[in-house]
Amino acid sequence: MLWILRFSGVFSAAMMMVVLSPSFQSLPPAEAIRSAHYDGPDLRKAGEFVPRSPLSFRRAPEFTNAEECGSLGRTRPRVCDPGLVHVAITLDVEYLRGSIAAVHSVLQHSRCPESVFFHFLVSDTSLETLVASTFPNLNFNVYYFDADMVKDLISTSVRQALEQPLNYARNYLADLLEPCIGRVIYLDSDLIVVDDISKLWQTDMGTRTIGAPEYCHANFTKYFTGSFWSNKRLSGTFSGRQPCYFNTGVMVIDLVKWRRVGYTKRIEKWMEIQKRERIYELGSLPPFLLVFGGHVAPIEHRWNQHGLGGDNVRGSCRDLHPGPVSLLHWSGSGKPWIRLDSKRPCPLDALWAPYDLYSHAHQ
Ligand SMILES: *[C@@H]1O[C@H](CO)[C@@H](O)[C@H](O)[C@H]1NC(C)=O
Repeated sequence: MLWILRFSGVFSAAMMMVVLSPSFQSLPPAEAIRSAHYDGPDLRKAGEFVPRSPLSFRRAPEFTNAEECGSLGRTRPRVCDPGLVHVAITLDVEYLRGSIAAVHSVLQHSRCPESVFFHFLVSDTSLETLVASTFPNLNFNVYYFDADMVKDLISTSVRQALEQPLNYARNYLADLLEPCIGRVIYLDSDLIVVDDISKLWQTDMGTRTIGAPEYCHANFTKYFTGSFWSNKRLSGTFSGRQPCYFNTGVMVIDLVKWRRVGYTKRIEKWMEIQKRERIYELGSLPPFLLVFGGHVAPIEHRWNQHGLGGDNVRGSCRDLHPGPVSLLHWSGSGKPWIRLDSKRPCPLDALWAPYDLYSHAHQ
């Protein structure tokens, strides 16, 4: 699948032809998972009933480090080992297929896939077995995110999909992950990485706590209600800042600074205000804009080509933004796996399909 390594160039119609040609359908042979057995850490409480996951995935090929990555020794790296790239991603039944494709894409395009350590945020620990049997030798830990942590902080939103408690797990990475982890890349479940993630990992953050591609031409006003802007006590939070919209689906986070300043509490403070006064319409995004807007380390836009999910209008397909592409993000209401299954895909959904490991045979 070397073709996609060349994806960094300007996206063109010619590239699309390459992508859609039949040869690209030839995926490495994948082994069907028959048993799901895993000897790793188990967060389940003894005696707790764990239902079998209704989803089944093919086993991904084994991804190994290139020579220049240096030797990791014979044992798997431990989470606190230096030199690892840490990636956090949520796993839930609804988006599982997307999360698995995202992990697959990261491994496939890494020069040093064995040096990537995944941190899976779950509210259902039975998914751990599934990940372990889908990706042989994957370095990962699973963190149980208790929905009760945010239940009382979530207000009813116009878009129910944004109100899944697991969406808020990114607020708590600094607490959930091991204290030895100083930096993490957070990734949403509806994206694929088509470049070496170690490049994103090496982002120069300067003095900033989070890094993300910023969109300063977007109308920032619309992310908050009129009553927010007319209340100077609240909107004054932006005085002296020049906030731009950024998408919280791809972020590089300095966990050391986050813990030191206590940003989790700051985010929670805005969520509490939202419960009382309704200062925004969306879910987990606006508190990040409130806390970090104008203080974000800019990352190249290639690392979040977002909006590919399109909107609710039937048949609305989005195109890529101009410029190079390192990450494609199907944010918005449409998801490529749903559209592909319904045989009404958008053209760019064909780029997601090669990373899909879902096994239809088990449906
Ligand atoms: C930005 O959005 C607000 C609220 O929707 C609107 O009132 C304003 O006119 C918009 N500004 C621009 C420059 O489009």
